[in-house]
Amino acid sequence: MSRLNRTDRPYDLVLFGATGFVGTLTAEYLAAHAPKELRWAVAGRDERKLERLRERLAGGADVGVLRADVDEPASLRALAEHARVVATTVGPYVLHGEELVAACADAGTDYLDLTGEPEFVDLMYVRHDARARETGARLVHACGFDSVPHDLGAYFTVLQLPPDVPLTVDGYVTADAAFSGGTLASALNQIARGRPMRAAARERYRHEPRLMGRRVTAPAGPPRFVGELGAWALPLPTVDPQIVRRSARALDRYGPDFRYRHHAAVRHLPVALGGVAALGAVAAAAQVPPARRWLSDRLKPGDGPSAEKRARSWFRVRFVGEGGGRRVFTEVAGGDPGYDETAKMFAEAALSLVFDDLPPTAGQVTTAQAMGDALIGRLRAAGITFRVAASR
Ligand SMILES: NC(=O)c1ccc[n+]([C@@H]2O[C@H](COP(=O)([O-])OP(=O)(O)OC[C@H]3O[C@@H](n4cnc5c(N)ncnc54)[C@H](OP(=O)(O)O)[C@@H]3O)[C@@H](O)[C@H]2O)c1
Repeated sequence: MSRLNRTDRPYDLVLFGATGFVGTLTAEYLAAHAPKELRWAVAGRDERKLERLRERLAGGADVGVLRADVDEPASLRALAEHARVVATTVGPYVLHGEELVAACADAGTDYLDLTGEPEFVDLMYVRHDARARETGARLVHACGFDSVPHDLGAYFTVLQLPPDVPLTVDGYVTADAAFSGGTLASALNQIARGRPMRAAARERYRHEPRLMGRRVTAPAGPPRFVGELGAWALPLPTVDPQIVRRSARALDRYGPDFRYRHHAAVRHLPVALGGVAALGAVAAAAQVPPARRWLSDRLKPGDGPSAEKRARSWFRVRFVGEGGGRRVFTEVAGGDPGYDETAKMFAEAALSLVFDDLPPTAGQVTTAQAMGDALIGRLRAAGITFRVAASR
């Protein structure tokens, strides 16, 4: 099936999980910013909640409502067949996500999500990438703060450096923000699944074609003080460096030998050590079911930071790129990373798949690979900073 003959579907875009915390913010963003010609619908398991959401949306009368439940695979197939693009916030994805990926891969429907779960991304590659390539579906994971600023920031940094030479990029993340019940549930679930996560990574490695004639790595750098940033850099083992590595594998512009390292940047050493200790304690507690339940009860699904808290939140990712005799400092920055900016990134990525003239891709792809320049342009226009801070 070619992507062209999908224009006869009733919707350009369906937002699944629209009544959740980040789903509602995304629906509000689309209602306020999408072009009038966008044919879109909100979808979820509770029709009354969806109707109430639609009534609150600007121009809601033109927005469709579709009921679908992850426990009813036929309803997910119907979503995939009724849209050109499906964007889903229904996580934890490793528990709830696969049927919709399968349905989109089969129907040749473009798919986006907000996962930060490496196990899910690896399993979806192993199980559904080949089918999506056959049908022309683009499966784009991690379209929120995980991993858009890091993936597009590394891509933007590479573009400032000479082509066809070995390149290194280091990313340093700083943020001040709170998280939602949905994020807490997904994070605790992922932390508790160390063994299946490693098994999924090995399975992916067995399936993925070897990269011929180029080298791409994303090692965890050692903790160290970075004088030019005035901050301690701690390795950050999130899904982000894996996504950057996949973009580098897919795009020759990253050069013959590319290395990316991902860090949290913390100004004061005691804060850095406290952060590591707190993360270690949460990771240990997440292995024990009663302690995991206690932690997850601290924030219920649907809860999240208030508008006032979000208005005070911010993020900044600094990149240092080097290669071919050049050294460049770049920055991606914005407001509340987990929710307001995530909703913006997610909605703009979906709009990019609907409207932009993009390079031909299919199967599991990253944001840089599928939408690179177009999505950077959209995010800049929507107020997210991408800038070169210095170069020499
Ligand atoms: N990448 C990032 O940076 C980033 C940022 C924010 C969030 N996230 C991820 O996004 C996801 C959503 O977060 P959130 O805070 O919005 O969570 P949330 O408020 O709990 O929303 C979850 C959504 O899933 C729906 N849902 C749950 N079970 C369902 C089922 N059986 N069938 C259909 N829908 C179902 C819920 O429907 P109801 O409304 O009917 O309950 C709700 O709409 C999480 O996985 C989180 O980790 C990622």
